[in-house]
Amino acid sequence: MTPAELPPSLHIDAARARVRLSPADPAFFQDPYPAYRAIRRSCPLFLWEDYGHLCAADAATVDALFRDRRFGREAPGRPPPPERVKPFHDLDALSMLEREPPAHTRLRRLVTRAFVFRAVERLRPRIERVVDALLDALPDRGTVDLLPAYAEPIPVVVIAELLGVPAADAPHLLDWSHRMVAMYRPGRTRADEDAAVAATLAFSAYLRDHLAERRARPREDLLTLLATAPEGEITPDEAVANAALLLNAGHEATVHAIGNAVAAVLGSGLDPAALFATPALTAATVEEALRFEPPLHLFTRTCLEPARVAGTAFRPGDRVGLLIGAANRDPARWAAPDGFDPARAPAPHLGFGGGIHFCLGAPLARLELEVALPRLFARRPGLRSADAPRFADRYHFRGLDALRVTLG
Ligand code: HEM
Repeated sequence: MTPAELPPSLHIDAARARVRLSPADPAFFQDPYPAYRAIRRSCPLFLWEDYGHLCAADAATVDALFRDRRFGREAPGRPPPPERVKPFHDLDALSMLEREPPAHTRLRRLVTRAFVFRAVERLRPRIERVVDALLDALPDRGTVDLLPAYAEPIPVVVIAELLGVPAADAPHLLDWSHRMVAMYRPGRTRADEDAAVAATLAFSAYLRDHLAERRARPREDLLTLLATAPEGEITPDEAVANAALLLNAGHEATVHAIGNAVAAVLGSGLDPAALFATPALTAATVEEALRFEPPLHLFTRTCLEPARVAGTAFRPGDRVGLLIGAANRDPARWAAPDGFDPARAPAPHLGFGGGIHFCLGAPLARLELEVALPRLFARRPGLRSADAPRFADRYHFRGLDALRVTLG
């Protein structure tokens, strides 16, 4: 690594384990890995001054923190959010992702059976049909942006059908969720906040209508499960919040997991026909893509009781960021971690988190990738990148702005 590769905004004070680094520095969000490497070498648990809290950049600490029950997603004692963003936070706070046991256990148990491997596997023929229809619609030759033409529609249609909302509403779902996830963007503006609140209100009203409809006329879908569960298992507001979580979590990350994986395969120079030759090789390629370019790079935890981790003392209320993207390139866990090598010795990556909040949708996301990637490369063997991949200015959500490819 040469200093020239490092983002200009990066300053590492190794002695005090403090780092300054702007998440909006284009050199960083285009390629965060040289900075991660330099930080991990100097001070793997460090104060990221731009966020104002500690962050962990090595696999062992990130893994340990995901599983450590002395840290949680709930943050008791944190000052309430400003009144103008309250509707967003009120909805968010009732989702299982923001709760700890026993509420987390109660909410997750209710929907788990829809997401276990066997239940998800039943969706395979439907996912294949969605994917094939999109491939049929691609032009014979020329240049196309595979994000809107391929990566975006697959997850939203699949999760909409699983929940039981019309797939034709996908454009609304995408619009609401894009505006809502902008709340997690570093340096978000007042306009971002207003748009997120408006989207929250519209999305909640939409879900309330659908849930009421299911209470009156149950069907075989997840919305019915949420709408008709006994009051002791889920409240009406929790049903809305968790339906919103499932719809948003169900596609935002998967879109970029597909896009990042296509870019990783094209950039690797490896032969796609070999990478996807069998289901086992396909699964290994998908796992390596999720390690190499995970779409989510930062989740936080708050300390709930005094703890000492990696030699550092934490007090209740302290926040810590878990840098998934950095952990997944830790040389202590993977040899030559900056290479895309599906044949490497497998080791558990952190792309889906860990512990009690481990991604509920992991089997579904894996299935979507295991259908979407081999079919794309089998049908379009001449696929090439049309230009260098350009990542969007959304550091936490690592995904491409566009995935322009030439179809041969
Ligand atoms: C490749 C795509 C995906 C990635 C990389 C991903 C990643 C993650 C990660 C890292 C977490 C843990 C967050 C934390 O511990 O703070 C998480 C949680 C979650 N994910 Fe995913 N996810 C993906 C797709 C999906 C899909 C398709 C669904 C379907 C509904 C989904 C639903 C959820 C839910 C409900 C949670 C919260 C679980 C809990 O709090 O117990 N995700 N995901």
